[in-house]
Amino acid sequence: MPEQNRVALAFSGGLDTTVCVPLLEEEYGYDEVIGVTVDVGQPEKEFVEAEETADALGVDNHVVDAREEFADLCLRSVKANATYQGYPLGTALARPVIAKAILEVAIEEDCDAVAHGCTGKGNDQLRFEAVWRDSDLEVIAPVRELGLTREWEMEYAAERDLPVEGGSEGRYSIDTNLWSRSIEGSELEDPATIPEDDIYDWTQNPSGKDAELVDIEFEDGVPVALDGEAIDPVSLVEQLNEQAGAHGVGRTDMMEDRMLGLKVRENYEHPAATVLLTAHEALEQLVLTQEERQFKQQIDQQWAQKGYQGLVDAPFVDALEGFIDNTNERVNGSVTVKLEGGHCRPVARESEYAVYSESAASFDEEDVQGGITQQDATGVAKYHGFQSRLAKRAMENARQED
Ligand code: ARG
Repeated sequence: MPEQNRVALAFSGGLDTTVCVPLLEEEYGYDEVIGVTVDVGQPEKEFVEAEETADALGVDNHVVDAREEFADLCLRSVKANATYQGYPLGTALARPVIAKAILEVAIEEDCDAVAHGCTGKGNDQLRFEAVWRDSDLEVIAPVRELGLTREWEMEYAAERDLPVEGGSEGRYSIDTNLWSRSIEGSELEDPATIPEDDIYDWTQNPSGKDAELVDIEFEDGVPVALDGEAIDPVSLVEQLNEQAGAHGVGRTDMMEDRMLGLKVRENYEHPAATVLLTAHEALEQLVLTQEERQFKQQIDQQWAQKGYQGLVDAPFVDALEGFIDNTNERVNGSVTVKLEGGHCRPVARESEYAVYSESAASFDEEDVQGGITQQDATGVAKYHGFQSRLAKRAMENARQED
């Protein structure tokens, strides 16, 4: 008997990954498909769906808990103030974590290949494969390679009696993890369509609810306590999603530029991410010097770009984190944010590293650190804009001579 040919499939129990199972056997000739569902904080019902679908398909499905690893990466992204085109990175951060966990199962289970159900239009195919192609296993993308459409998949599933009905998604394509929830597809594909309220699950419509204050304490740029109580990263994010979501904080409706150049309409919910990013940045404003903040914006932007690409393991990112970690050694202290009417804004901050002197900035006091007085600014004020004035005068003179 020849050895069994096995493939490990990134499995969610949704339509794409469900049709991949018979296709991997029939079109690609694998004897056995092993499913892997990686827990990065999806809702419980997604695991139930994956398990039920796997059972019905006769697939052995492995569930790997990667929540802690993912939460740690989310907090690294906070240190980098990481947003892409204005929204907190979510799916992009989860993919490499998921891909790595699947690869580990594939190797343990002696698989010859790894497969995903991504289409050839999105970013996720690139993020998965960046991790997988660093191994000797074959990489298979049935949906992309066979040019499948959702319609074809639905017909194929019906013909074969595959267990796809009752999917949790309904008409949208939804990707949820601890950090964010993304909603795509159906009528949302028309950028001119205003979303129905039912696309939201984590956030309430901002109403007349009373404002709420939340206090977050940071150590070396990492949030470690909520309202004075020490808390682990996973619980912190879960709790803030609830608390800030109740105020409608963390909704994004945008046009996004994907890696392949496609422009797409995206909707996101990310209450905890919005709160933590807002609070972290408020503390950086207090403790970093102006030039540090300015340069860090460029560093942060590069970090976010690599994050979006699913390449947070790149040596370039290590180098960026050299600057990020160094400056964040002073990001210690606490920030109070106010949750109100869909907004989260910092209202108080304190740190032993504050680059701030109340007596220097105050309108009320004359005596300041370093013996500086108001009159000392006179010389600076005389010079300010000096070169521009010289340039303008030279231009005027030249014009008069013509
Ligand atoms: N556009 C986002 C990204 O590339 C999210 C994609 C999530 N996928 C989904 N089926 N909703 O990171």
